[in-house]
Amino acid sequence: MRTQVAIIGAGPAGLLLAHLLHLRGIESVVLESQSRKHVEERIRAGVLEQGTVDLLVESGVGERLRREGLTHHGLELRFGRRAHRIDLSGLTGGRALTVYAQQEVVKDLIQARLAAGGTILFEISDVEVRGVGTNAPRVVFRKDGAADAIACDFIAGCDGFHGVSRASVPRGALTAHEQDYPFAWLGILADAPPVSPELIYCQHELGFALFTMRTTRLSRLYLQCAPDEDIANWPDDRIWEKLRARLGGGAPLPEGPVLQKGITGMRSFVVEPMQHGRLFLAGDAAHIVPPTGAKGLNLAVADVRVLAQAFAAHYESGSSAALDRYSETCLRRVWRVQRFSWWMTALLHRFPGGDAMRQRLQHAELDYLVGSRAAMTAFAENYVGLPFED
Ligand code: APR
Ligand code: PHB
Repeated sequence: MRTQVAIIGAGPAGLLLAHLLHLRGIESVVLESQSRKHVEERIRAGVLEQGTVDLLVESGVGERLRREGLTHHGLELRFGRRAHRIDLSGLTGGRALTVYAQQEVVKDLIQARLAAGGTILFEISDVEVRGVGTNAPRVVFRKDGAADAIACDFIAGCDGFHGVSRASVPRGALTAHEQDYPFAWLGILADAPPVSPELIYCQHELGFALFTMRTTRLSRLYLQCAPDEDIANWPDDRIWEKLRARLGGGAPLPEGPVLQKGITGMRSFVVEPMQHGRLFLAGDAAHIVPPTGAKGLNLAVADVRVLAQAFAAHYESGSSAALDRYSETCLRRVWRVQRFSWWMTALLHRFPGGDAMRQRLQHAELDYLVGSRAAMTAFAENYVGLPFED
């Protein structure tokens, strides 16, 4: 088999890259270790930046998103028994965020690729990346037990944090920057309407909580917990009780059957550069943000937007200048978004040890944030998404 760009991973990064390349007349094959059902049902975040929505709509995969996505013009911050609304749209000239689950984006992209005759190979195994330092890279793998290979011009490593692409780069060629956090999130999906039409981020002495949603009838709720927490110790009643306590007063929290429950670790991670020879890393394969701020998917979209343009420039003009700048272009945004996610995480969580000084400083910063139009504007422009740069 031969193609122009072999893409490893059918998450949002790999699938959107394949779609954007197709629009530019560039062929690709996507290789995914999991089944189609698995990737379409995997529950992840669900907040899209304005730029992500615009790109999906402009590239023709935003029809259901426009119909079913919930547009939010603001959000609420709660701390010290007070609630403050941040008018995201008013502060950013009308930009907004859209609540639409990541797996719905994945379903829309898979459908668009298959309808256009694109190739996505699911349930493949033993993927290995070969010859990225040459002009003839290859991906070898097994499908239904049989060995196979794809010859290509370039390889896009879109296989997430635990994928093979980054791991196949020789030791010493990449530098990793990493920070773990001393807490995690326990998340539930509940068959209950959201407590408020907008997201609520709570800083509380008992720990952080987030009240978000998937639809007007399905709530997505998160509680800060210990990183090594055992989900078996969290019966539904205990989760609802902690959520109520951290939400504080106001409207009562609607409860309903818990449909899904899980623990998400928190990490900041960046690898530099995001390229090695003819292998280009994008999305979680190159960087991880803690979930506070919901930037993971949006950052993956920003990477593949740059990568698709750079491949197009290469095939249209023969110039590799944009591909050579790929890593530098992406990393500027990656570091800014890392900073915002790290800042929001540090601002809103309770750090183990109950340091009273840190708590006072967090309150002072939140107090300043909600009282200063300048500080709220800085928050809002990061939250709705920084503009794309080329
Ligand atoms: N071979 C083939 N596919 C692989 C391999 C492998 N060795 N290893 C991992 N994969 C697949 C995974 O099964 C997954 O479907 O690569 C895909 C990677 O997808 P994601 O993890 O969703 O990563 P990405 O596309 O970069 O999406 C951005 O940011 O914060 C997160 O939740 C957000 O998942 C989103 C991500
Ligand atoms: C979500 O809806 O899952 C979500 C929203 C906001 C975040 C993180 C996750 O900061």
